[in-house]
Amino acid sequence: MNIKNICCIGAGYVGGPTMSVIAKFCPDIQVNVVDINHKRISQWNEKNLSDLPIYEPGLREIIEKCRGKNLHFSTDLKKNIEKADMIFISVNTPTKIRGIGSGQAIDLKYVEASSREISKYARGHTIVVEKSTLPVKTAQTIKAILDAATEDVNKSKITKTFSVLSNPEFLAEGTAISDLENPDRVLIGGEDKEAINELVNIYSKWIDKVKVLTTDLWSSELSKLISNAFLAQRISSINTISALCEATGARIKDVSLAVGMDRRIGKYFLNSGPGFGGSCFKKDISNLVYISNHYGLFEVANYWQKVLDINSWQQKRFVELIVKKMFGTISSKKIAILGFAFKANTNDTRESPAINICKKLIEEGAFLKIYDPKVKEHQIIKELGLNENNKEHRDWEYSNSIHKTFKDVDAALFLTEWCEFASLNWRDISKIMRKPSWVFDTRSIVDMDLVKENGINIWQVGYGN
Ligand code: NAD
Ligand code: UGA
Repeated sequence: MNIKNICCIGAGYVGGPTMSVIAKFCPDIQVNVVDINHKRISQWNEKNLSDLPIYEPGLREIIEKCRGKNLHFSTDLKKNIEKADMIFISVNTPTKIRGIGSGQAIDLKYVEASSREISKYARGHTIVVEKSTLPVKTAQTIKAILDAATEDVNKSKITKTFSVLSNPEFLAEGTAISDLENPDRVLIGGEDKEAINELVNIYSKWIDKVKVLTTDLWSSELSKLISNAFLAQRISSINTISALCEATGARIKDVSLAVGMDRRIGKYFLNSGPGFGGSCFKKDISNLVYISNHYGLFEVANYWQKVLDINSWQQKRFVELIVKKMFGTISSKKIAILGFAFKANTNDTRESPAINICKKLIEEGAFLKIYDPKVKEHQIIKELGLNENNKEHRDWEYSNSIHKTFKDVDAALFLTEWCEFASLNWRDISKIMRKPSWVFDTRSIVDMDLVKENGINIWQVGYGN
């Protein structure tokens, strides 16, 4: 088999960038990204590259080079599935919101729907690749749906056969393109050696073969969940220590540095902050808790649940601390919110710590002025879900000028580590904030001494002051 046509179901944060990078390095392969969301597909086809649905450094250059040549975005699932030799399933896998396992288990309805579309339209032999993050053993479900189609068509003598592979994605938002172009590893799980080789050959176009690991389906599916769980666990660990630093007068950055310089521990994911956000850590650990309970491993489930509990606790303690520092009440006080995205260099707000923190501050009676260089107002409206239509009665306003955000506010709360927040002119800002003024820095992004020199009180995560 020689892969000439790839189809990817799901044009989201993973499908879009992943397929763009495959198209960039495999000019001989036609890559078709399909989605049921018409608006998203038309955004991917936007002439104006600033209107792409996803902001990722380096993405627009690839789109400019490959789109319309060997990279296409379409809503036509039938046509693109029919001609594909290899199909990636890259759809969303949210947490169930009702029924059995609600709040913990993964809702596989989009994966199942994609499998049914494949089973209906695929022709000849098709390699189906799980790209979405899935509960261990999901390949069994996909196979069952595809095999049923194989049996049906065998009666009518049309050839239709499938191989299922697991190839989880490890990219992080904000660095998606560099992660895809130079990953730590690529993981492929499966039973069919030939199918595995086809996928290995694609990645080998730009990635050293020693970085491409192959294994069985279940180890591959589970490794993805565990990678996310370990990353999130480090964040919760360092966040517990940030509280201990604040209580004892130790400095979190120095502790992280000293601990991380031990090669056995490593320096990454030791930045304390407002807790992890993003669409995946919470959902994947909740799923790990669910799976562990399902297999009767209650101690395992409780251990991972604590990682989630600490994450919520960190956000709750920040709000309490802000209220306490601001004389016990923030009712009718104005607070500037700097950053709404769940991390820097992305416009993604899914599960952003800013959502919970802003909601809690509003509950306490504060009025918020929210600024983020990449997040649009309608997205914040969607996430906060408060007084959507009536601007006059909203408890917050959107600010598109960083400087104006500070005007007349009592406090400024830094929630995302955008680079531009590191070099603010505190002399000018101190003149327009209401006095006594406060800065609450949950990301250790601002220069503490400079803020203090300009007569502003400052609290920074992990510093006893
Ligand atoms: P997303 O919500 O941005 O995109 C998913 C897309 O799939 C949506 O556009 C949706 O319309 C589409 N879709 C759903 N059902 C469909 C169907 N039946 N046919 C066609 N299209 C359909 O999600 P995402 O962030 O790209 O995540 C996708 C998967 O990748 C998830 O399992 C996630 O856990 C995993 N993942 C995400 C990241 C990340 O950084 N976002 C990183 C690694 C892995
Ligand atoms: C994460 C993983 O890093 C990816 O490997 C994985 O593919 C992806 O989830 C996924 O499966 O979706 P992502 O959520 O995009 O990627 O971003 P991260 O850089 O991991 O950050 C997640 C959250 O943790 C952010 O809110 C970030 O601010 C926070 N974080 C990260 C910290 O608070 N401290 C740190 O030291 C690192």
